[in-house]
Amino acid sequence: MDLRGRTALVTGGGSGIGRAASAPLAAAGALVHVVDREAESAKSVAAAIRGVAHVVDLADAEAVGSLPAGVDVLVNNAGLQHVSPIEEFPPARFALIQQVMVTAPFLLMRQCLPHMYAGGWGRIVNVSSMHGLRASAFKSAYVAAKHGLEGLSKVAALEGAAHGVTSNCVNPGYVRTPLVEGQIAGQAAAHGIPPEEVVSDILLDRSAIKRLIEPDEVAAICLWLCGPHTGYITGASLPVDGGWGAR
Ligand SMILES: NC(=O)c1ccc[n+]([C@@H]2O[C@H](COP(=O)([O-])OP(=O)(O)OC[C@H]3O[C@@H](n4cnc5c(N)ncnc54)[C@H](O)[C@@H]3O)[C@@H](O)[C@H]2O)c1
Repeated sequence: MDLRGRTALVTGGGSGIGRAASAPLAAAGALVHVVDREAESAKSVAAAIRGVAHVVDLADAEAVGSLPAGVDVLVNNAGLQHVSPIEEFPPARFALIQQVMVTAPFLLMRQCLPHMYAGGWGRIVNVSSMHGLRASAFKSAYVAAKHGLEGLSKVAALEGAAHGVTSNCVNPGYVRTPLVEGQIAGQAAAHGIPPEEVVSDILLDRSAIKRLIEPDEVAAICLWLCGPHTGYITGASLPVDGGWGAR
């Protein structure tokens, strides 16, 4: 893998999958822009990989416009979850989740594609989810946003193909990150069961492989999509789901 001379931008790069994806991109030689609303984590990840930290709230369209446009590898990864039945779901929270997980990726594609087209090469990696392909109750905003990201990714694939730009989704099941650790704690409290039982009986109920995915395993697939053998993969959604979707 040789990404020397390339520039990457990873949203949500301060934690979990985004942090895990930033390191191998930098190790392959790319200059990595680490974008996160959490200043400390963005700065520490950027410092560790000799990247550049950008402390930005991706729900703020104007702030997104201030991010670099000269990007060859765009990893749309930032995300958040809110668990609630539809009839109780706060509308502002629903709108925020669409803004961060659909509108920000669109705005970033919009501003980075001209550079990719000019260079005849680009990689857009959208960290979607199995919830981009399947639904779960009580996750209306997240499931709607991930399904929206899937559509956006496919349109970018069609438009980018003539310019050497691919766009794909990576679709993990449950990954061991702070986002999921928060859900485990919440469900353990809600159901009055130990956290291990939440993982085995609730989260991994549909997965054939009974363990959480490690962030590095998802990061490796993001990197692979930027490599020399994956230029024909575009408009795809790649499940990393331990067999969840096989049912
Ligand atoms: N953890 C999982 O099981 C799992 C499974 C499938 C998909 N995903 C997806 O992977 C992506 C990364 O999730 P993660 O598990 O690493 O979560 P995480 O909480 O560890 O990291 C998400 C990062 O996004 C940042 N972020 C959130 N809202 C932001 C905003 N408005 N502006 C800027 N930064 C913001 C957070 O500060 C955080 O650093 C998300 O899109 C998530 O939906 C996660």
